[in-house]
Amino acid sequence: MTHSPLLRSDQTLFRDPDVFELTFVPEHLHHRDAQVRELAFLISPALRGGSALSAILRGPPGTGKTTTVRRIFHEVTEETRRIVPAYVNCRHDHTLLAVYRSIFKQVSGYPAPLAGRYLDDVKEGIAARLQDRNAALVVCLDDADELIVAGTYNTLLYQILRLYEKWDVRKAGVFAVTSNLGLNLGAEADPSVRSVFHPTEITFLPYTRTEIREILTDRARQGLYPRVISKPLLDRIATVAAGEQDVRVGIDLVRQAVLLAEKDGRRRVTHADVTAAARAVTAPGLLNRAARLSADERALLSWIAERSRDGGDMASGAVFEAAQEYLPVGKTTYHEHLNALTRAGIVDLVPRAGRGREVRLRYDAGDVAAACSSPDRTCKNPD
Ligand SMILES: Nc1ncnc2c1ncn2[C@@H]1O[C@H](COP(=O)(O)OP(=O)(O)OP(=O)(O)O)[C@@H](O)[C@H]1O
Ligand SMILES: [Mg+2]
Repeated sequence: MTHSPLLRSDQTLFRDPDVFELTFVPEHLHHRDAQVRELAFLISPALRGGSALSAILRGPPGTGKTTTVRRIFHEVTEETRRIVPAYVNCRHDHTLLAVYRSIFKQVSGYPAPLAGRYLDDVKEGIAARLQDRNAALVVCLDDADELIVAGTYNTLLYQILRLYEKWDVRKAGVFAVTSNLGLNLGAEADPSVRSVFHPTEITFLPYTRTEIREILTDRARQGLYPRVISKPLLDRIATVAAGEQDVRVGIDLVRQAVLLAEKDGRRRVTHADVTAAARAVTAPGLLNRAARLSADERALLSWIAERSRDGGDMASGAVFEAAQEYLPVGKTTYHEHLNALTRAGIVDLVPRAGRGREVRLRYDAGDVAAACSSPDRTCKNPD
């Protein structure tokens, strides 16, 4: 199929490699219209001389929270000088001073002078710039759970939201972002903060397979030369990324597969490139998932992987019967284990046309078996 001439060593398949960088802000933000509209609505009072409102953005990793905020902030900066957006990456900046210095730099366009190492100087500097420009501040605290860990969350929210009490500026809006679904950023705010922090909750659900495919197709169009990667291969990558519930996995897979083709001097990505790339990209995820299982669940998983690799009947009932010889567990326990494997995102229970369900692995059977018998696991290998 691929008898195209080989690449010369100075040729590349990437039209623009930056398109696959994590910090890349895509030209078009797919499937986030509702969230963009909501954020624009919260910012809009500041356009009319009022204050922006606040929000909590929640959603699992890779659901476009950071990208959505960056997109909106970019547009605000292009359109008006009456609003100053400041994006703070709390993974990097989580002390009071680091956060204020980050805001200062974005409000004034240059770093806070070193003499401004005292918090009040930096805060005063921020307020003074806002006054000069008669502008309203909107701060995004991305990955705000890091502030909770650092013990600065409440102090920062309190001080940023009450900046207007001490200085003659408009009340700031705060967008607090988290991918930790077990954490309620609203409830973490103490009462003195809650009296000034009335956030709207904005939810980011994982993208569906179709949505991921559109995002990847668009990314490939921007970043690669035409025909480097075929539509069926993008479909296949979208399926893997949807299984991982992370569009980032998909973007990374495209990049890795193209790099493999390029390394080999080919102009087209093949199935084998995608298989090899998928191994490297999904292996850490699979290992993490397998590590969270109990020894018995892992034993069952390992056995399922062997059977699937040998081409055995994967109907749930047949798997149960055959497993008896190795894992003498009752039907109830078997189903509990199976459900644990589904929750862990390693197997799917797919309804069969006739009746019953089929046990289907989300990963390559060999990789699953390897993850189960990884030396750092306590997995009792059933054979
Ligand atoms: N709607 C979209 N259209 C195009 N690209 C997108 C979209 N959503 C996400 N992406 C891309 O997917 C990757 C992950 O997105 P992003 O960093 O915004 O996720 P996130 O929700 O902030 O994840 P985390 O919680 O891990 O920080 C980025 O490379 C981004 O460019
Ligand atoms: Mg993010």
